[in-house]
Amino acid sequence: MRNLNVYGPLATLVLTLGAGLAGCQPQAPTPAPAPVEPPAAPAKAVVDTTQAGAPERWPLVVPDLATIPEGPVGDAVRRGQLLVSRTREELPDNVGNGLHCTSCHLQGGTVANAGPWIGITGVFPEFRTRNAKVNVLQDRVNDCFERSMNGTPLAPDSADMTAIIAYMTWLSQGVPSGVPIEGRGFARIKDAPTPDPDHGALVYGQKCSACHGAEGAGLETPDGGYLYPALWGDHSYNIGAGMSRLDTAAAFVKWNMPLGQGGTLSDQEAYDVAAYFITKPRPDFARKAADWPDGGKPRDARY
Ligand code: HEC
Ligand code: HEC
Repeated sequence: MRNLNVYGPLATLVLTLGAGLAGCQPQAPTPAPAPVEPPAAPAKAVVDTTQAGAPERWPLVVPDLATIPEGPVGDAVRRGQLLVSRTREELPDNVGNGLHCTSCHLQGGTVANAGPWIGITGVFPEFRTRNAKVNVLQDRVNDCFERSMNGTPLAPDSADMTAIIAYMTWLSQGVPSGVPIEGRGFARIKDAPTPDPDHGALVYGQKCSACHGAEGAGLETPDGGYLYPALWGDHSYNIGAGMSRLDTAAAFVKWNMPLGQGGTLSDQEAYDVAAYFITKPRPDFARKAADWPDGGKPRDARY
């Protein structure tokens, strides 16, 4: 597993906020306040001026691990961090494939355009057309358990769900409520090209199969874990997952794959290879017929 080793320019500021949290522990002595350096990034929401009417965005800043407080809250944050990065091993009853949450939400959910969770606690509850309901963050997490992990939901009031929410809350510290961060989700490719899955097979062979395997099965380790996750087959995400959709998969691949070389594929290559692997056999999702009950189905929906 890789560490959360990306320290943003606001680390000093965040450290101070974290120290404030730790100060809430009754037994903790009050530390002398550390001098606060002026933040390098503007400490106000920035407006994306590239799109008229685009919502305000807050800069993505990864909190320093040292700001996880001592005591029961810190224990929950650390447990949550473990659960999202070793999901298969820690929650075998809830995971039906070979993935961890962080197989897609890279580096503990801290990477822009790889589904980051920084600021996520402030943007939920959210109305979603897929189930035509207002979803709280626990619902959204369970959606990924049932679809992306091809598994079963956690009880919303379980200690494990609480730990995951505690971790996401710690990640979200300092982001104003209701303001999404820069790089939330995966930046969709504008003017989507018409995909050519046959060319996608070539791209796959040249740029993906070395890690994900010629048959998309990934690379399993002797202890039953995965060094490289599966892209299709029984140990992949199911047909109901967001990653089964063309625009979503192409955007993830464009910015994040091949691992460590995000942004190197052309838009066409990202669409071609996504069209190739998403249509390979994968687990079904039994409740798919109940999706989008009131309309709003995206153009790349698979069913
Ligand atoms: C196969 C890839 C994959 C895996 C594994 C996965 N997710 Fe997701 N997740 C997604 C996609 C795709 C989205 C939707 C992102 C988008 O469309 O912008 C998403 C969205 C989310 C969101 C909402 C993000 C937002 O900005 O609204 C949360 C929270 C989340 N996932 C949590 C989890 C958790 C917790 C796990 C593990 C139990 C997990 N995910 C596993 C692919 C995955
Ligand atoms: C150097 C090895 C490597 C290469 C090459 C590579 N990947 Fe990945 N890929 C990974 C790893 C490792 C992860 C999981 C990330 C993690 O656990 O931190 C991943 C995750 C993924 C995921 C989300 C998780 C899943 O299994 O569904 C997709 C989709 C994906 N890669 C597609 C691709 C595509 C398409 C290519 C070729 C353009 C590619 N990858 C090339 C290593 C690689």
